[in-house]
Amino acid sequence: MELESFENSLIGQSPELNSVTWAAKITAASDVTVLIHGESGSGKEIFAKVIHNESSRKSQSMISVNCAAIPVNLAESMLFGHIKGSFTGAVSNQDGYIQEANKGTLFLDEVGELPLSVQAKLLRFLESTECQKVGSSKTEKMNVRIIAATNRDLHDEVNKGNFRKDLFYRLHIVPLEIPALRDRTGDVELLLKHFTAELAKQYAVKAPNYNKSAINCLKNYSWPGNIRELRNLCERMSILLPGKTIKLENLPIEIKNAKQYAEQKSLVSLPDSGLSLENVEIDLIQQALNKTSGNRSKAARLLGLTRDTLLYRMKKYSLT
Ligand SMILES: Nc1ncnc2c1ncn2[C@@H]1O[C@H](COP(=O)(O)OP(=O)(O)OP(=O)(O)O)[C@@H](O)[C@H]1O
Ligand SMILES: [Mg+2]
Repeated sequence: MELESFENSLIGQSPELNSVTWAAKITAASDVTVLIHGESGSGKEIFAKVIHNESSRKSQSMISVNCAAIPVNLAESMLFGHIKGSFTGAVSNQDGYIQEANKGTLFLDEVGELPLSVQAKLLRFLESTECQKVGSSKTEKMNVRIIAATNRDLHDEVNKGNFRKDLFYRLHIVPLEIPALRDRTGDVELLLKHFTAELAKQYAVKAPNYNKSAINCLKNYSWPGNIRELRNLCERMSILLPGKTIKLENLPIEIKNAKQYAEQKSLVSLPDSGLSLENVEIDLIQQALNKTSGNRSKAARLLGLTRDTLLYRMKKYSLT
């Protein structure tokens, strides 16, 4: 396992990112099923690619499937393949994504969108590693490593009846929670420099630089589109202001306004004597748990966290 290539592909030094990178490195060394959870643009796909590229399967393909883009009636045949004549339009035998990924990795992106009927068949495949084409009575043994990703709270989807509980547990063997960019503001400047240099090369322009107030504003911004949004901003600035020093006034209005919003609307005022952030967090977690009679999914929602993140923080503070 080459540790360096992880660091080269995944930019960021924050402890929040480092702990996920560390877990990803460990999973790359085995064939274990990984479920990656994170907001849109936070880096789920890049993590999946890095895990595959560092695994013993790296010389084989990683087949990426966007489960949200598969038509419901074709989902089974697209995943598992079909034989000639098994349905109208099945004019020849056809492999599915699983056969294509044989000996390699299958990346099931937006796995929460997979139709329930196919979820059952996927679970059977995961447990038996045997794949049955639509219309066939035979099964074929396959050697496929599964990495799945979702931006949904799959636990909630299970509770709502949209996702099979047994499949959830089968996928959830190693969960990787990619932190949102707003929760690792320490990485903003590093990513900004990385993308700015990369884009300057790509567009053959002189890289702009950012003054302190612009950087502070970017650190305070909530980045709903996460790293993708930050990269897009770097692209815009590199094209419009090559070689210039970018100041607060050059930033897009939605980012400048968001900063003012954050400044004006402090949720809690910091006493002059200061306070322990850790104690505030513990107190808020306890309040959320009391309010929801200990229901962790509901408590997590009250705190704007995923259930996994809440469980992680409860464990960290030894809260039960
Ligand atoms: N740590 C990182 N270092 C460098 N680039 C990153 C990092 N994380 C994400 N990116 C880049 O940000 C962009 C978005 O990442 P990616 O496509 O992996 O996100 P995602 O979570 O799969 O998004 P979505 O939910 O929209 O599918 C990509 O261009 C990716 O290369
Ligand atoms: Mg993605």
